[in-house]
Amino acid sequence: MDKPKVVLGVSGGIAAYKACEVLRRLTESGHDVQVVPTEASLHFVGAATWSALSGHPVSTQVWNDVHQVPHVRTGQAADLVVVAPATADLLARAAHGLADDLLTNTLLTARCPVVFAPAMHTEMWEHPATQENVATLRRRGAVVIEPAVGRLTGADTGKGRLPDPGEIFEVCRRILARGTAAPDLAGRHVVISAGGTREPLDPVRYLGNRSSGKQGYALARTAVARGARVTLIEANTGLPDPAGAEVLRAGTAAQLREAVVEAAAGADVVVMAAAVADFRPAVYATGKIKKKDGREPEPVALVRNPDILAEISADRSRPGRIVVGFAAETDDVLANGREKLRRKGCDLLVVNEVGERKTFGSEENEAVVLAADGAEVPVPFGPKEALADTVWDLVAARFG
Ligand code: CTP
Repeated sequence: MDKPKVVLGVSGGIAAYKACEVLRRLTESGHDVQVVPTEASLHFVGAATWSALSGHPVSTQVWNDVHQVPHVRTGQAADLVVVAPATADLLARAAHGLADDLLTNTLLTARCPVVFAPAMHTEMWEHPATQENVATLRRRGAVVIEPAVGRLTGADTGKGRLPDPGEIFEVCRRILARGTAAPDLAGRHVVISAGGTREPLDPVRYLGNRSSGKQGYALARTAVARGARVTLIEANTGLPDPAGAEVLRAGTAAQLREAVVEAAAGADVVVMAAAVADFRPAVYATGKIKKKDGREPEPVALVRNPDILAEISADRSRPGRIVVGFAAETDDVLANGREKLRRKGCDLLVVNEVGERKTFGSEENEAVVLAADGAEVPVPFGPKEALADTVWDLVAARFG
């Protein structure tokens, strides 16, 4: 079988050096990569590097090997075009259909999925000109990955960093796996909670649970690849931020509730994949609870935490918003799941059976997705990503 053909466009920003790692990941995982740098980007990484790492000659202009019509062929032959980093200038040229070098010609002739990973200073990213160009590209079906927040060139920090190269590669891998399927969550804002809350008992102890957050992160990554704007609210996962997702942190159920309620106000979909503690200690001891000689410990009194899923499901202030819950059950899995779907009032409920190898901390999952309209979709044992894609298929079908 032919290797999938990827065009890696590189425009002129300091983050160009990180594209070397994107290229390595792509070639090492069996992709045939043609690097198309802009002239400006060669100030940062030279053509010799791209040529050596990709195994192909590299050109910035349409005037080399004209008999092979590279300005048309390169784009036509590609299964995926990814531009990393995409500067403000490159986004502007792409949005306006300019064709003044090989990369912009390639973008005009490509009929495959196109991904832009922008990187620039915060002011340039936030400028209305850039934001309008990004909106135009997204409206036309391109996936534009939100930049990460962090250290920029020089001493400043803010939004505009190129996401981790490994995460950009993950987005590319997922989009290639989808073939020519359109980014069906484009224009949708999805909010996903992931991980497990910790309810503090004293400064050194907490009540927690075994949720790793992997299923929630798989949902975030697949949603980015399907074009969504993703807000991921994570509780105690320690996992690397997925490229393109805005990541917010919450520790306790109360913090998670506040973050979810605020983000949900503007969301089209809310997925509660986090394991939220149902109870918290009634009293937080400000000093460490000590052993007392010869005495049994005091019992710990618990109080109920708010049910975030039920609250969001009951809030009809945003008609059309789709709410998805998760349920981990050990017994009478389906019967409990159906009852929970009714009780929580959500649109979809993903029911997992908890057991050895399944669910907590593992890379795989097996589930049945129950819908409020009575549909029941079994998802066979497999990667958490496959379950995530089934959830998004069902969500996208409900948007019609
Ligand atoms: N959930 C929530 N807020 C809580 C508890 C749970 O939003 N305080 C959400 C979880 O994120 C998950 C779903 O509700 O999407 C299922 O949680 P689960 O704890 O299994 O449901 P419970 O109602 O607590 O049912 P039970 O404890 O009886 O199994």
